[in-house]
Amino acid sequence: MKTALITGANKGIGYEVAHQLAGKGFHVFIGARKQDAGRKAANKIVKGGGKATFLEIDVSDNASVTAAAREFAKAADHLDVLVNNAGIIVDGDNAILEISDELLRNTLETNTLGALRVTRAFVPLLSKSKSPRVINVSSGGGQLTGGADGWSPAYCISKTAEICRELSLPRVGTHGYGRPGRDSLSGGRRGHDCMACCRCTPEADWKIFA
Ligand SMILES: NC(=O)c1ccc[n+]([C@@H]2O[C@H](COP(=O)([O-])OP(=O)(O)OC[C@H]3O[C@@H](n4cnc5c(N)ncnc54)[C@H](OP(=O)(O)O)[C@@H]3O)[C@@H](O)[C@H]2O)c1
Repeated sequence: MKTALITGANKGIGYEVAHQLAGKGFHVFIGARKQDAGRKAANKIVKGGGKATFLEIDVSDNASVTAAAREFAKAADHLDVLVNNAGIIVDGDNAILEISDELLRNTLETNTLGALRVTRAFVPLLSKSKSPRVINVSSGGGQLTGGADGWSPAYCISKTAEICRELSLPRVGTHGYGRPGRDSLSGGRRGHDCMACCRCTPEADWKIFA
């Protein structure tokens, strides 16, 4: 059975991605930092006839990510699709000259480093898939052209850095991963063949290419 791990899947885009992948026959792992919310989301998918397992993971915490990879390996021997979806905009992220170092660091910790540390931890499991995919959910705010124009500067910086990090990823086996245009959701000119961006597409039309 194909497997997918979606971080931040207890609500929002992450939940919807998990829900649709389950509908396509994937065993989905609901990555969430809050146990109650994660279990509730997984149960909802199971009640709808899908296969879903809650996986506790806080992408901002190395120990949590490492533990999650160990837990995952007890339930499945490979990972086909990793969706790095977990992301934050911190309250007060309003103006670049006014935000604190701490606000910027926290945002980068989750949005940029988080996706990298999850990818790193799950590479051994991805390598066991015949067709591994890593999908990084970026944002139009991360685009250098027409993206970051002053709104939520820490968030936009973190999403631009995420795209740069994605470009640096190596290839695994015969399948590239982390390559924009195929595997990213960046809300602008890239990635719309893979998933649709909520800024451009009504929620009802979000469809997953899997
Ligand atoms: N909504 C948009 O218009 C939009 C546009 C472009 C890109 N995006 C991107 O799409 C992704 C999802 O956005 P959304 O709108 O669905 O946001 P959302 O509803 O706020 O959901 C964010 C998810 O990420 C989780 N999360 C945050 N920090 C985490 C951490 N350290 N470890 C694990 N999970 C964590 C949240 O968990 P908790 O419930 O525990 O907080 C929640 O499940 C984000 O990467 C966002 O930047 C969104």
